[in-house]
Amino acid sequence: MGIAITTSDLESLYSQALEHYLAGGGEEALRGAYEVGRLALAGDVGLLDLAAFHHSALIRILADSQGQDEIRARFSAASQFFTECVSPYEMSLRGYRDAVAALRLLNETLEKEVKRIAHTVHDEAGQLLVVVYLALTEIAKDLTPAMQTRIKGVNDLLHQVEGHLRQLSHELRPTILDDLGLVPAVQFLADRVSKRSNLVIEVKAELDGRLLPGVETALYRIIQEALNNARRHSQGKNVWIQLDEDAGKTMCSIRDDGIGFQAQPYPSETGEKGLGLIGIRERLSAIGGTLQITSEPGRGTKLLIVVPKENSHANSHRARR
Ligand SMILES: Nc1ncnc2c1ncn2[C@@H]1O[C@H](COP(=O)(O)OP(=O)(O)OP(=O)(O)O)[C@@H](O)[C@H]1O
Ligand SMILES: [Mg+2]
Repeated sequence: MGIAITTSDLESLYSQALEHYLAGGGEEALRGAYEVGRLALAGDVGLLDLAAFHHSALIRILADSQGQDEIRARFSAASQFFTECVSPYEMSLRGYRDAVAALRLLNETLEKEVKRIAHTVHDEAGQLLVVVYLALTEIAKDLTPAMQTRIKGVNDLLHQVEGHLRQLSHELRPTILDDLGLVPAVQFLADRVSKRSNLVIEVKAELDGRLLPGVETALYRIIQEALNNARRHSQGKNVWIQLDEDAGKTMCSIRDDGIGFQAQPYPSETGEKGLGLIGIRERLSAIGGTLQITSEPGRGTKLLIVVPKENSHANSHRARR
Protein backbone atom coordinates (compact mmCIF):
# COMPACT_ATOMS: atom_id res chain seq x y z
CA MET A 1 0.00 0.00 0.00
CA GLY A 2 1.31 3.50 -0.87
CA ILE A 3 1.79 6.24 1.73
CA ALA A 4 -1.20 8.60 1.77
CA ILE A 5 -0.34 12.14 0.71
CA THR A 6 -2.19 14.93 2.47
CA THR A 7 -3.72 18.05 0.91
CA SER A 8 -1.18 20.32 2.62
CA ASP A 9 1.70 18.11 1.35
CA LEU A 10 0.26 18.55 -2.12
CA GLU A 11 -0.06 22.28 -1.69
CA SER A 12 3.63 22.65 -0.79
CA LEU A 13 4.60 20.19 -3.54
CA TYR A 14 2.67 22.33 -6.02
CA SER A 15 4.33 25.49 -4.82
CA GLN A 16 7.87 23.99 -4.98
CA ALA A 17 7.30 22.50 -8.43
CA LEU A 18 5.95 25.81 -9.73
CA GLU A 19 8.92 27.73 -8.31
CA HIS A 20 11.29 25.20 -9.89
CA TYR A 21 9.61 25.69 -13.27
CA LEU A 22 9.66 29.48 -13.03
CA ALA A 23 13.35 29.34 -12.06
CA GLY A 24 14.03 27.84 -15.52
CA GLY A 25 13.44 24.15 -14.79
CA GLY A 26 12.24 23.63 -18.40
CA GLU A 27 10.68 20.42 -19.72
CA GLU A 28 11.69 18.37 -16.71
CA ALA A 29 9.93 20.84 -14.37
CA LEU A 30 6.85 20.74 -16.58
CA ARG A 31 6.78 16.96 -16.20
CA GLY A 32 6.80 17.70 -12.47
CA ALA A 33 3.56 19.68 -12.98
CA TYR A 34 1.96 16.66 -14.59
CA GLU A 35 3.16 14.47 -11.71
CA VAL A 36 1.67 16.84 -9.09
CA GLY A 37 -1.64 16.78 -11.03
CA ARG A 38 -1.56 13.00 -11.11
CA LEU A 39 -0.93 12.80 -7.36
CA ALA A 40 -3.69 15.33 -6.68
CA LEU A 41 -6.16 13.34 -8.79
CA ALA A 42 -5.19 10.09 -7.05
CA GLY A 43 -5.58 11.82 -3.67
CA ASP A 44 -9.12 13.02 -4.58
CA VAL A 45 -8.10 16.69 -4.56
CA GLY A 46 -10.71 18.65 -6.49
CA LEU A 47 -9.96 21.05 -9.32
CA LEU A 48 -11.08 24.01 -7.21
CA ASP A 49 -8.52 23.09 -4.54
CA LEU A 50 -5.86 22.83 -7.20
CA ALA A 51 -6.82 26.28 -8.49
CA ALA A 52 -6.57 27.58 -4.91
CA PHE A 53 -3.02 26.11 -4.56
CA HIS A 54 -2.12 27.82 -7.81
CA HIS A 55 -3.63 31.11 -6.74
CA SER A 56 -1.85 31.32 -3.39
CA ALA A 57 1.53 30.15 -4.81
CA LEU A 58 1.23 32.66 -7.64
CA ILE A 59 0.41 35.59 -5.33
CA ARG A 60 3.50 34.81 -3.25
CA ILE A 61 5.75 34.43 -6.30
CA LEU A 62 4.47 37.59 -8.00
CA ALA A 63 4.95 39.59 -4.79
CA ASP A 64 8.64 38.70 -5.01
CA SER A 65 8.89 39.67 -8.69
CA GLN A 66 10.64 42.79 -9.96
CA GLY A 67 9.01 44.98 -12.60
CA GLN A 68 6.11 44.56 -15.04
CA ASP A 69 8.03 42.41 -17.52
CA GLU A 70 9.06 39.83 -14.95
CA ILE A 71 5.51 39.70 -13.53
CA ARG A 72 4.07 39.22 -17.03
CA ALA A 73 6.57 36.49 -17.95
CA ARG A 74 6.07 34.61 -14.67
CA PHE A 75 2.31 34.92 -14.91
CA SER A 76 2.19 33.40 -18.36
CA ALA A 77 4.70 30.62 -17.49
CA ALA A 78 2.65 29.82 -14.37
CA SER A 79 -0.49 29.45 -16.54
CA GLN A 80 1.35 26.92 -18.69
CA PHE A 81 2.37 25.05 -15.54
CA PHE A 82 -1.22 25.01 -14.29
CA THR A 83 -2.54 23.73 -17.63
CA GLU A 84 -0.03 20.88 -17.52
CA CYS A 85 -0.98 20.13 -13.94
CA VAL A 86 -4.71 19.77 -14.73
CA SER A 87 -4.10 17.59 -17.80
CA PRO A 88 -4.49 14.33 -15.78
CA TYR A 89 -7.99 15.61 -14.82
CA GLU A 90 -8.79 16.19 -18.49
CA MET A 91 -7.60 12.68 -19.34
CA SER A 92 -9.64 11.17 -16.55
CA LEU A 93 -12.74 13.06 -17.75
CA ARG A 94 -12.20 11.65 -21.24
CA GLY A 95 -11.79 8.19 -19.75
CA TYR A 96 -15.01 8.64 -17.81
CA ARG A 97 -16.89 9.70 -20.95
CA ASP A 98 -15.55 6.67 -22.85
CA ALA A 99 -16.57 4.38 -19.99
CA VAL A 100 -20.09 5.86 -19.96
CA ALA A 101 -20.38 5.41 -23.73
CA ALA A 102 -19.19 1.80 -23.42
CA LEU A 103 -21.67 1.18 -20.61
CA ARG A 104 -24.52 2.62 -22.68
CA LEU A 105 -23.58 0.40 -25.61
CA LEU A 106 -23.38 -2.64 -23.34
CA ASN A 107 -26.83 -1.91 -21.91
CA GLU A 108 -28.27 -1.48 -25.41
CA THR A 109 -26.71 -4.77 -26.53
CA LEU A 110 -28.03 -6.59 -23.45
CA GLU A 111 -31.46 -5.09 -23.98
CA LYS A 112 -31.52 -6.28 -27.61
CA GLU A 113 -30.57 -9.75 -26.44
CA VAL A 114 -33.35 -9.75 -23.82
CA LYS A 115 -35.80 -8.66 -26.54
CA ARG A 116 -34.65 -11.52 -28.76
CA ILE A 117 -35.06 -14.06 -25.94
CA ALA A 118 -38.49 -12.66 -25.03
CA HIS A 119 -39.66 -12.98 -28.64
CA THR A 120 -38.23 -16.49 -28.94
CA VAL A 121 -39.99 -17.62 -25.77
CA HIS A 122 -43.24 -16.02 -26.91
CA ASP A 123 -43.33 -16.94 -30.59
CA GLU A 124 -41.34 -20.14 -30.98
CA ALA A 125 -42.40 -21.85 -27.78
CA GLY A 126 -45.99 -20.75 -28.49
CA GLN A 127 -45.90 -22.26 -32.00
CA LEU A 128 -44.41 -25.51 -30.74
CA LEU A 129 -47.19 -25.81 -28.20
CA VAL A 130 -49.79 -25.37 -30.95
CA VAL A 131 -48.22 -28.36 -32.75
CA VAL A 132 -48.37 -30.37 -29.52
CA TYR A 133 -52.10 -29.49 -29.01
CA LEU A 134 -52.87 -30.64 -32.54
CA ALA A 135 -50.94 -33.88 -32.06
CA LEU A 136 -52.78 -34.56 -28.79
CA THR A 137 -56.16 -33.93 -30.43
CA GLU A 138 -55.22 -36.37 -33.20
CA ILE A 139 -54.13 -39.02 -30.68
CA ALA A 140 -57.26 -38.51 -28.54
CA LYS A 141 -59.53 -39.42 -31.48
CA ASP A 142 -58.41 -43.08 -31.31
CA LEU A 143 -58.63 -43.39 -27.54
CA THR A 144 -61.26 -44.53 -25.07
CA PRO A 145 -63.31 -41.83 -23.26
CA ALA A 146 -61.32 -42.46 -20.05
CA MET A 147 -58.03 -41.90 -21.86
CA GLN A 148 -59.48 -38.83 -23.59
CA THR A 149 -60.20 -37.33 -20.17
CA ARG A 150 -56.55 -37.87 -19.20
CA ILE A 151 -55.40 -36.28 -22.45
CA LYS A 152 -57.62 -33.29 -21.65
CA GLY A 153 -55.81 -33.02 -18.29
CA VAL A 154 -52.48 -32.86 -20.15
CA ASN A 155 -53.95 -30.25 -22.49
CA ASP A 156 -54.98 -28.10 -19.54
CA LEU A 157 -51.49 -28.31 -18.07
CA LEU A 158 -50.02 -27.27 -21.40
CA HIS A 159 -52.34 -24.26 -21.43
CA GLN A 160 -50.94 -23.27 -18.06
CA VAL A 161 -47.37 -23.65 -19.35
CA GLU A 162 -48.28 -21.46 -22.31
CA GLY A 163 -49.72 -18.82 -19.98
CA HIS A 164 -46.57 -18.81 -17.85
CA LEU A 165 -44.31 -18.54 -20.90
CA ARG A 166 -46.37 -15.64 -22.23
CA GLN A 167 -46.16 -13.84 -18.89
CA LEU A 168 -42.42 -14.48 -18.69
CA SER A 169 -41.82 -13.08 -22.16
CA HIS A 170 -43.91 -9.98 -21.40
CA GLU A 171 -41.97 -9.38 -18.21
CA LEU A 172 -38.63 -9.91 -19.90
CA ARG A 173 -39.44 -7.20 -22.39
CA PRO A 174 -42.96 -5.86 -22.17
CA THR A 175 -44.11 -4.73 -25.58
CA ILE A 176 -46.09 -1.98 -23.84
CA LEU A 177 -42.80 -0.34 -22.90
CA ASP A 178 -42.06 0.18 -26.59
CA ASP A 179 -45.67 0.75 -27.69
CA LEU A 180 -47.18 2.82 -24.86
CA GLY A 181 -44.22 3.97 -22.76
CA LEU A 182 -42.89 3.79 -19.23
CA VAL A 183 -46.00 4.49 -17.15
CA PRO A 184 -48.28 1.73 -18.54
CA ALA A 185 -45.31 -0.68 -18.49
CA VAL A 186 -44.60 0.09 -14.82
CA GLN A 187 -48.29 -0.30 -14.02
CA PHE A 188 -48.26 -3.70 -15.74
CA LEU A 189 -45.12 -4.74 -13.85
CA ALA A 190 -46.55 -3.56 -10.52
CA ASP A 191 -49.75 -5.60 -11.11
CA ARG A 192 -47.73 -8.72 -11.90
CA VAL A 193 -45.43 -8.38 -8.88
CA SER A 194 -48.39 -7.60 -6.66
CA LYS A 195 -50.21 -10.73 -7.82
CA ARG A 196 -47.37 -13.08 -6.96
CA SER A 197 -46.35 -11.44 -3.66
CA ASN A 198 -48.20 -9.92 -0.74
CA LEU A 199 -47.17 -6.40 -1.68
CA VAL A 200 -49.68 -3.65 -2.35
CA ILE A 201 -48.06 -1.45 -4.98
CA GLU A 202 -49.27 2.04 -5.80
CA VAL A 203 -48.07 3.77 -8.96
CA LYS A 204 -48.44 7.55 -9.32
CA ALA A 205 -47.13 9.22 -12.43
CA GLU A 206 -47.14 12.70 -13.86
CA LEU A 207 -44.89 12.65 -16.86
CA ASP A 208 -45.08 15.08 -19.70
CA GLY A 209 -45.08 12.69 -22.69
CA ARG A 210 -42.64 9.96 -23.60
CA LEU A 211 -39.03 9.79 -22.44
CA LEU A 212 -36.11 8.72 -24.61
CA PRO A 213 -36.17 4.93 -25.27
CA GLY A 214 -32.87 4.35 -23.43
CA VAL A 215 -34.15 6.26 -20.39
CA GLU A 216 -37.51 4.45 -20.38
CA THR A 217 -35.71 1.11 -20.50
CA ALA A 218 -33.25 2.11 -17.77
CA LEU A 219 -36.01 3.36 -15.43
CA TYR A 220 -38.13 0.27 -16.13
CA ARG A 221 -35.21 -2.06 -15.27
CA ILE A 222 -34.40 -0.03 -12.15
CA ILE A 223 -38.01 -0.18 -10.92
CA GLN A 224 -38.04 -3.91 -11.69
CA GLU A 225 -34.96 -4.44 -9.50
CA ALA A 226 -36.30 -2.17 -6.73
CA LEU A 227 -39.55 -4.18 -6.68
CA ASN A 228 -37.57 -7.42 -6.60
CA ASN A 229 -35.63 -6.13 -3.64
CA ALA A 230 -38.78 -4.97 -1.86
CA ARG A 231 -40.33 -8.40 -2.44
CA ARG A 232 -37.26 -10.39 -1.39
CA HIS A 233 -35.72 -8.32 1.40
CA SER A 234 -38.08 -5.68 2.79
CA GLN A 235 -40.75 -7.75 4.61
CA GLY A 236 -42.93 -4.70 4.02
CA LYS A 237 -46.59 -4.55 2.97
CA ASN A 238 -46.67 -1.50 0.71
CA VAL A 239 -44.62 -0.04 -2.09
CA TRP A 240 -45.15 3.43 -3.56
CA ILE A 241 -43.76 4.26 -6.97
CA GLN A 242 -43.80 7.86 -8.08
CA LEU A 243 -42.70 9.26 -11.43
CA ASP A 244 -42.75 12.98 -12.02
CA GLU A 245 -40.98 15.98 -13.41
CA ASP A 246 -39.79 19.18 -11.89
CA ALA A 247 -37.50 22.06 -12.89
CA GLY A 248 -35.45 20.29 -15.53
CA LYS A 249 -35.44 16.89 -13.82
CA THR A 250 -37.24 13.59 -14.30
CA MET A 251 -37.65 11.92 -10.93
CA CYS A 252 -38.56 8.42 -9.88
CA SER A 253 -38.93 7.22 -6.34
CA ILE A 254 -39.63 3.72 -5.07
CA ARG A 255 -40.42 3.50 -1.36
CA ASP A 256 -41.39 0.60 0.88
CA ASP A 257 -42.48 0.29 4.50
CA GLY A 258 -40.24 -2.67 5.28
CA ILE A 259 -37.37 -3.38 7.64
CA GLY A 260 -34.83 -1.17 5.84
CA PHE A 261 -31.09 -1.71 5.79
CA GLN A 262 -27.79 0.06 6.29
CA ALA A 263 -27.41 1.68 2.89
CA GLN A 264 -23.91 2.63 1.69
CA PRO A 265 -23.58 6.01 -0.06
CA TYR A 266 -21.28 4.36 -2.63
CA PRO A 267 -20.85 0.71 -3.54
CA SER A 268 -18.08 -0.64 -1.35
CA GLU A 269 -15.80 -3.47 -2.36
CA THR A 270 -16.72 -5.53 0.66
CA GLY A 271 -20.18 -4.18 1.49
CA GLU A 272 -22.62 -4.90 -1.33
CA LYS A 273 -22.59 -8.53 -2.31
CA GLY A 274 -25.56 -8.42 -4.65
CA LEU A 275 -25.56 -7.01 -8.15
CA GLY A 276 -28.91 -5.24 -8.08
CA LEU A 277 -27.94 -1.88 -6.56
CA ILE A 278 -24.65 -1.86 -8.46
CA GLY A 279 -26.59 -2.50 -11.68
CA ILE A 280 -28.93 0.40 -10.86
CA ARG A 281 -25.97 2.74 -10.42
CA GLU A 282 -24.40 1.53 -13.65
CA ARG A 283 -27.59 2.03 -15.63
CA LEU A 284 -27.85 5.52 -14.21
CA SER A 285 -24.27 6.51 -15.02
CA ALA A 286 -24.97 5.53 -18.62
CA ILE A 287 -27.82 8.08 -18.79
CA GLY A 288 -26.26 10.74 -16.54
CA GLY A 289 -28.67 10.10 -13.66
CA THR A 290 -28.13 9.75 -9.91
CA LEU A 291 -29.36 7.44 -7.16
CA GLN A 292 -29.97 8.35 -3.55
CA ILE A 293 -30.87 5.58 -1.11
CA THR A 294 -32.56 6.54 2.13
CA SER A 295 -32.89 3.58 4.43
CA GLU A 296 -32.40 2.73 8.05
CA PRO A 297 -33.07 -0.49 9.89
CA GLY A 298 -36.75 -0.46 10.86
CA ARG A 299 -37.66 2.60 8.77
CA GLY A 300 -38.26 1.32 5.27
CA THR A 301 -36.31 2.04 2.13
CA LYS A 302 -36.56 4.78 -0.46
CA LEU A 303 -34.71 4.95 -3.75
CA LEU A 304 -34.71 8.34 -5.40
CA ILE A 305 -33.58 8.52 -8.99
CA VAL A 306 -33.00 11.81 -10.77
CA VAL A 307 -32.28 12.15 -14.48
CA PRO A 308 -31.66 15.61 -15.96
CA LYS A 309 -34.44 16.44 -18.41
CA GLU A 310 -32.04 17.21 -21.25
CA ASN A 311 -30.90 13.55 -21.02
CA SER A 312 -34.34 12.05 -20.69
CA HIS A 313 -36.74 13.83 -23.03
CA ALA A 314 -37.40 13.00 -26.64
CA ASN A 315 -38.07 16.68 -27.38
CA SER A 316 -34.93 18.06 -25.70
CA HIS A 317 -32.28 19.87 -27.79
CA ARG A 318 -29.67 17.22 -27.20
CA ALA A 319 -32.04 14.41 -28.14
CA ARG A 320 -32.92 16.07 -31.44
CA ARG A 321 -29.30 16.59 -32.44
N1 LIG B 1 -36.01 -2.67 -0.12
C1 LIG B 1 -35.09 -3.24 0.68
N2 LIG B 1 -35.38 -3.54 1.97
C2 LIG B 1 -34.45 -4.12 2.78
N3 LIG B 1 -33.19 -4.42 2.40
C3 LIG B 1 -32.84 -4.15 1.13
C4 LIG B 1 -33.76 -3.55 0.20
N4 LIG B 1 -33.12 -3.38 -0.98
C5 LIG B 1 -31.87 -3.86 -0.80
N5 LIG B 1 -31.70 -4.34 0.44
C6 LIG B 1 -30.46 -4.88 1.03
O1 LIG B 1 -29.37 -4.51 0.20
C7 LIG B 1 -28.69 -5.66 -0.26
C8 LIG B 1 -28.16 -5.40 -1.65
O2 LIG B 1 -29.21 -5.35 -2.61
P1 LIG B 1 -28.89 -5.78 -4.11
O3 LIG B 1 -30.11 -5.62 -4.93
O4 LIG B 1 -27.67 -5.06 -4.55
O5 LIG B 1 -28.48 -7.30 -3.98
P2 LIG B 1 -29.40 -8.60 -3.75
O6 LIG B 1 -30.83 -8.25 -3.94
O7 LIG B 1 -28.99 -9.19 -2.45
O8 LIG B 1 -28.89 -9.58 -4.92
P3 LIG B 1 -29.23 -9.45 -6.50
O9 LIG B 1 -29.93 -8.16 -6.72
O10 LIG B 1 -27.87 -9.49 -7.15
O11 LIG B 1 -30.07 -10.64 -6.81
C9 LIG B 1 -29.70 -6.79 -0.16
O12 LIG B 1 -29.07 -8.04 -0.02
C10 LIG B 1 -30.49 -6.39 1.09
O13 LIG B 1 -29.78 -6.79 2.24
MG1 LIG C 1 -31.46 -7.19 -5.66
